[in-house]
Amino acid sequence: MEKSRRQQRLAFILLFGLWLPCCFTQTTPSNSATPTPTPSPSPSPQPRTEKLKVRLAGYPRKHNEGRIELFYKGEWGTICDDDFSLANANVLCRQLGFVSATGWTHSAKYGKGQGKIWLDNVLCGGGEKSIELCKSRGWGNSDCTHDEDAGVVCKDERIPGFVDSNVIDAHVDENKIEEVRLRPVVAMAKKKLPITEGVVEVKYKDGWAQICDIGWTIKNTRVVCGMLGFPHERKVNKNFYKRLKKRAAEKLPRPKVNVSAGGRLYLERQKNYFHIHSVACLGTEVHLAACPLEFSKANATSACTGGMPAVVSCMPGPLFMQNSGLKKKLKISSNVRLKGGSRVGEGRVEVLKDNEWGTVCDDRWNLQSASVVCRELGFGSAKEALTGGRLGQGMGPIYMNEVKCVGQERSIWNCPFKNITSEDCHHMEDAAVRCNIPYMGLENTIRITGGRTRYEGRVEVLSVDSNGTQSWGLICGESWTTKEAMVACRQLGLGYANQGLQETWYWDSSNVTEMVMSGVKCTGSEMSLSQCQHHKTVSCQKAAAKFAAGVICSETASDLVLNASLVQQTVYIEDRPLHMLYCAAEEDCLSKSAAKANWPYGHRRLLRFSSQIHNIGRADFKPKAGRHSWVWHACHGHYHSMDIFTHYDLLNANGTKVAEGHKASFCLEDTDCQEGVSKRYECANFGDQGITVGCWDLYRHDIDCQWIDITDVKPGNYILQIVINPNYEVAESDFTNNAMKCNCKYDGHRIWLHNCHIGDAFSEEAERRFEKYPGQLNNRIS
Ligand SMILES: *[C@@H]1O[C@H](CO)[C@@H](O)[C@H](O)[C@H]1NC(C)=O
Ligand SMILES: *[C@@H]1O[C@H](CO)[C@@H](O)[C@H](O)[C@H]1NC(C)=O
Ligand SMILES: *[C@@H]1O[C@H](CO)[C@@H](O)[C@H](O)[C@H]1NC(C)=O
Ligand SMILES: *[C@@H]1O[C@H](CO)[C@@H](O)[C@H](O)[C@H]1NC(C)=O
Ligand SMILES: *[C@@H]1O[C@H](CO)[C@@H](O)[C@H](O)[C@H]1NC(C)=O
Ligand SMILES: *[C@@H]1O[C@H](CO)[C@@H](O)[C@H](O)[C@H]1NC(C)=O
Ligand SMILES: *[C@@H]1O[C@H](CO)[C@@H](O)[C@H](O)[C@H]1NC(C)=O
Repeated sequence: MEKSRRQQRLAFILLFGLWLPCCFTQTTPSNSATPTPTPSPSPSPQPRTEKLKVRLAGYPRKHNEGRIELFYKGEWGTICDDDFSLANANVLCRQLGFVSATGWTHSAKYGKGQGKIWLDNVLCGGGEKSIELCKSRGWGNSDCTHDEDAGVVCKDERIPGFVDSNVIDAHVDENKIEEVRLRPVVAMAKKKLPITEGVVEVKYKDGWAQICDIGWTIKNTRVVCGMLGFPHERKVNKNFYKRLKKRAAEKLPRPKVNVSAGGRLYLERQKNYFHIHSVACLGTEVHLAACPLEFSKANATSACTGGMPAVVSCMPGPLFMQNSGLKKKLKISSNVRLKGGSRVGEGRVEVLKDNEWGTVCDDRWNLQSASVVCRELGFGSAKEALTGGRLGQGMGPIYMNEVKCVGQERSIWNCPFKNITSEDCHHMEDAAVRCNIPYMGLENTIRITGGRTRYEGRVEVLSVDSNGTQSWGLICGESWTTKEAMVACRQLGLGYANQGLQETWYWDSSNVTEMVMSGVKCTGSEMSLSQCQHHKTVSCQKAAAKFAAGVICSETASDLVLNASLVQQTVYIEDRPLHMLYCAAEEDCLSKSAAKANWPYGHRRLLRFSSQIHNIGRADFKPKAGRHSWVWHACHGHYHSMDIFTHYDLLNANGTKVAEGHKASFCLEDTDCQEGVSKRYECANFGDQGITVGCWDLYRHDIDCQWIDITDVKPGNYILQIVINPNYEVAESDFTNNAMKCNCKYDGHRIWLHNCHIGDAFSEEAERRFEKYPGQLNNRIS
């Protein structure tokens, strides 16, 4: 009896093992910040002392520096600066997930903490895995005050795979489960990705382990699906798999089985083949390793008596769904969004309230809350919960703080949180997420070649002919712009597009392929080039390889945003005498009719306002042109580094421009910066031009050309629109916030602006209402 059952299982394992020519893995990074002890001989979950949590606090802090706080015995407290050293800082920075420390601070540089001073006279050697292991006076034993709170400055480089949270608990360290994959069963293994159903396999040490399904619950399935990038789980047709198992046993009667081959294969597999069993997830875990589970070592055969390998089925989010009928049924959240991320499923978290988008403050931001956001947007669980504005800062309101999701909530809006004002929190503390997304293989269907680094090159696309032969081919450079390059860089997993190139003759062309694609037109938000429009048949005027499309990608990018409320507050009309406008005329800052004026007599009517342009991204904004090509403007006495930096326009009801501001080119510099950021760019004296992250460039209402010439405009309702970097000339992480719009009422004498807002700040509904404004007659100004 026992023997035949073994036989049966052997056949079954063979079946599942042999069916699959290939499989797809979804990698989740290893989560341990510190090297972990090797598993004990019987590594079943055991009660463990709570892991020490460490965080950065205070102000002005960044994601990689701040006051050190330790969570011990249920309470956050600080460390006194007596005897503090770089060695201590190194230990703390590594515990926080950074590779090392670059400095430390004393005397409460980031402000005084509260509560306990947990440690004093800390003396680390530098190599300790945790601050707990360093010498000190002992927990809570200190003669300091909070005036002496210590801080650290960490090198801004993460330990690879470090998860930015304290949430994944001890089990990760013990079990070291890193990856999970689904092995589809042959009958259902469609070619199409993503794979949504199959046998769960877990990477354990050097091998792949299956999980015994006895006691398996849908909650376990939820965790597995989340790790693989799917928001929801589905019930598996268990009978189907039972029948398969039975049939497998029947179809392979003993005489016909090549026992030696099968047996050998089985044994080979057994080498690193551990069965996992008794998995008992709550369903809120972001990683299987966080669930209680047990390993049965070596003897996989007896480990799952009466059971079979666990099989799961997941429901993909709409972005990853092949069936468009289902797509419509599955709605993703409309009051939460991700902004500024370079990859699909990552970005700053923004939430919609009263028709306006705002951000989330990072206090207590963790993987549970981040996962709720990820799942409601159609992704899996969260891979990282990022703090400290690490994926760029927002500009508008901050709505939530101390979000505390359990993990089962349908939306972040259903989680407990605190209301907040901009006094309690700054955009420097904006929360962000990186979500698990399903493996689609998109990065394997294009490649870049010829460049000097792995971030640049000619773009090549993979095509498969009717015989199934694969070949690579180039893309026609005509009409290739930053938008298309953005999609290519995203698809390659190389971040943002620094540039989209229409000519690539200066790169190595020893292996160039044929041109196979032309007329590519993307909106910029696609996941892959195949989702963009392109010509049916290749049509390229300059078909030589040197005119092939190229990209330069970058992990970081700037993000420019205009301060909308400042425009609204500073607007006025000036009738400026022509004799004061010679310089402006020379720089094309007046409308065409000015040419016919009776110079120097008369005046022009100007709509004036101040512009404050912030860089809230992750890289400095620098003009594309090198200083050798900057143009000296004698009239204003400075160099212009970009031809077209902004558009200032007044639009009527049908979107027609009634007054076009000049296409202003500016002299870019840091006028001022956030606390703790120093200025770097200065326009004067042929200085370096640009805008540093965290700084802004201010164009006061009273400087020349900072206006729209409305001399020819009739009284009425209009929309004032300002667009920064309108031609995508310089890379930004987000172009949807480059336009600023206001309702504008002009009665022939005075002018009012209201509802000034950044292009992506309102809900769609509010934006539609806003756009109707010029059509409204006799609109009253409230
Ligand atoms: C069993 O399989 C091995 C390897 O595939 C092969 O060499 C051998 O001839 C097979 N034996 C029988 C009896 O089919
Ligand atoms: C595996 O389990 C079976 C049945 O319980 C037992 O007969 C066998 O000796 C075990 N093998 C090893 C290597 O422990
Ligand atoms: C937050 O403020 C809103 C009103 O703006 C109120 O309805 C809500 O109850 C408040 N929530 C909390 C948690 O205080
Ligand atoms: C497909 O294969 C056949 C036979 O090898 C060959 O004649 C034909 O040219 C191939 N077609 C393509 C598109 O490569
Ligand atoms: C060109 O192709 C050959 C053969 O595939 C390869 O060895 C060589 O490295 C390639 N050269 C470049 C510059 O990619
Ligand atoms: C925008 O301008 C307003 C009005 O001058 C000012 O109060 C506010 O601080 C500015 N916003 C930012 C982010 O600097
Ligand atoms: C747009 O409106 C203006 C008047 O406001 C009108 O002269 C013009 O013909 C309209 N253009 C279109 C395309 O409807």
